[in-house]
Amino acid sequence: MLKLVKYSEKHIKYLIEYLNNKNITEWLFVIPEPYTEEEANKWLQYCKDNEDKNENYLFAIEDDGEFTGGIGLHKKMEHCFDVGYWIAEKQWGKGYATEALKILTELAFGKFKIDRIQAFVFDGNIASGKVLEKCGYEYEGYLKKSHKKGEVFYNSKLYAKIN
Ligand SMILES: CC(C)(COP(=O)(O)OP(=O)(O)OC[C@H]1O[C@@H](n2cnc3c(N)ncnc32)[C@H](O)[C@@H]1OP(=O)(O)O)[C@@H](O)C(=O)NCCC(=O)NCCS
Repeated sequence: MLKLVKYSEKHIKYLIEYLNNKNITEWLFVIPEPYTEEEANKWLQYCKDNEDKNENYLFAIEDDGEFTGGIGLHKKMEHCFDVGYWIAEKQWGKGYATEALKILTELAFGKFKIDRIQAFVFDGNIASGKVLEKCGYEYEGYLKKSHKKGEVFYNSKLYAKIN
């Protein structure tokens, strides 16, 4: 059974294994490259620091206790949060991202009282667009140069779901 759980020390070695992967990081805005043990420890600390703040809701995704990826909500405005997620490449195509996003969306609109969740999907990320559509997110538009990593600009598709 798939569950969203708090990150803990047991996830560190898998974070390092799974996130040193361009096929994942090229689609994400904030993952450091290379992803070292120091980065993993910093991430854990960041998650702990955020536990009671209601600004970032950050979860490890586990299936029957096996770590398969990460998902989180990041505060943009009082009512509006960005969602981000990734799944270990060896586990792609099994529905994990869709299931995790459904669970988090329900939590967001219920327990966390969020009114709008949005996702920026870099041009070409077909799988992520499908995940969002399967979870009832609507395509709202195409944003040119919405993000910049280093010297490279990214265009993105904006998806959102409203409570
Ligand atoms: C995007 C990502 C999270 C999807 O995870 P996942 O667990 O494989 O997703 P799911 O299995 O729930 O759904 C993926 C859907 O995309 C489809 N898909 C995947 N690649 C595709 C492609 N190239 N063309 C068309 N459809 C594709 C799958 O068939 C599936 O749809 P289906 O259920 O209708 O068959 C995963 O690929 C990933 O971690 N990517 C890198 C990080 C990332 O992109 N994060 C999101 C940033 S916005």
